Amino acid sequence: MELSLSGTTYTQELQVRAPGRINIIGEHTDYNLGYVLPAAIDKGITFRIGTHSGTRCRLDAANLDQSYVFDIADIPGPEADMPGWARYLVGVVAELQAAGHTVGGFDAAFGGDIPIGSGLSSSAALECGLAWGLDQLYGLGLDRMALAQAAQRAEHTYPGVKCGLMDQFASLHGQAGQVVRLDCRSLDFAYFPFDTETYRLVLFNTKVEHSLAGSEYNTRRLQCEEGVLRLQAFFPDIASLRDVSPDMLAAHAGDLPEIIYQRCAHVVHENARVLATCDALAAGNLAAVGSHMFASHDSLQHQYEVSCEELDFLVDQVREDPAVLGARMMGGGFGGCTLNLVQREAVPALQKRIEAAYSARYGRAPETYIVRIMDGVGDVQ
Ligand code: GLA
Repeated sequence: MELSLSGTTYTQELQVRAPGRINIIGEHTDYNLGYVLPAAIDKGITFRIGTHSGTRCRLDAANLDQSYVFDIADIPGPEADMPGWARYLVGVVAELQAAGHTVGGFDAAFGGDIPIGSGLSSSAALECGLAWGLDQLYGLGLDRMALAQAAQRAEHTYPGVKCGLMDQFASLHGQAGQVVRLDCRSLDFAYFPFDTETYRLVLFNTKVEHSLAGSEYNTRRLQCEEGVLRLQAFFPDIASLRDVSPDMLAAHAGDLPEIIYQRCAHVVHENARVLATCDALAAGNLAAVGSHMFASHDSLQHQYEVSCEELDFLVDQVREDPAVLGARMMGGGFGGCTLNLVQREAVPALQKRIEAAYSARYGRAPETYIVRIMDGVGDVQ
């Protein structure tokens, strides 16, 4: 895509590519300070950013043919009326400024190929691409983790989604051919090679648009917090569900309201599944990785209740297929994509079968993406 800036003279210019992400396993664990296992993918947003000596900031969304202009000396607050996409970007600038980093005027044009609302983190790519670009252009000297955290704060404040760190972390820390396990409490991370030659990572997009800003995501967070509060009566030292083992939870299942217990059970066991998946990856046991993915889906469907009929349908369609090692819904839920681990030669036939079955049931075809694991945010040469 040709991205052009509206002005003619810029003090500096930069092109940045910011990827979306997949998550192999570890869903709704990040804001519980647990483990996640994401990777950056070959779908992303490209920015062209130019700095100038004035105070104007102009944002051009090339795909939408929309613009938004604001003044860096008077950044609109979260309550201001602005296009939905602009909230992520204005939020980043506001958060950088609030943290004491001086950003001047700039023009930024962007566009990309991450399907919006599909659980592939187009919002994190937006935030992280601009954050990284401004860091480079204005010499802010922030490391990638600090940029991810600024982007996360922007999402909390401007669109008002109390997300965890996974998406912003993955967009900034991805490495080609590797998945990365993040410990969301210590922020330590470790890479694991993930070969997509023999088994492909295939996404089926329900095209049911989720709305994370919808209340359900924030409700889950609150339910987890309630679980921690109630469990603290028995274990005063715990600070998050990360500190709760499956045994500790089982011992007090009867002391929690049923729904709170179910939410906590998902998180506690999902953390264990991430660690088991990493062990399986290290041992080259992709079949075990796949079983953990199915188990993760079941838990998200029945215990955390963030799936939807279309996602469950897509996962059920592949359960008995010997060429599919694992499948699950991915991201916040309530729509978006399933992630499938599929034997390479079987992909074309599977795609045909799923597209036909989904169309027969829902009257529209899902979109299919075969993704590759790529580097995180960086400049475009
Ligand atoms: C969204 C959020 C992430 C994470 C996932 C669920 O993608 O942005 O922080 O909580 O949902 O795992």
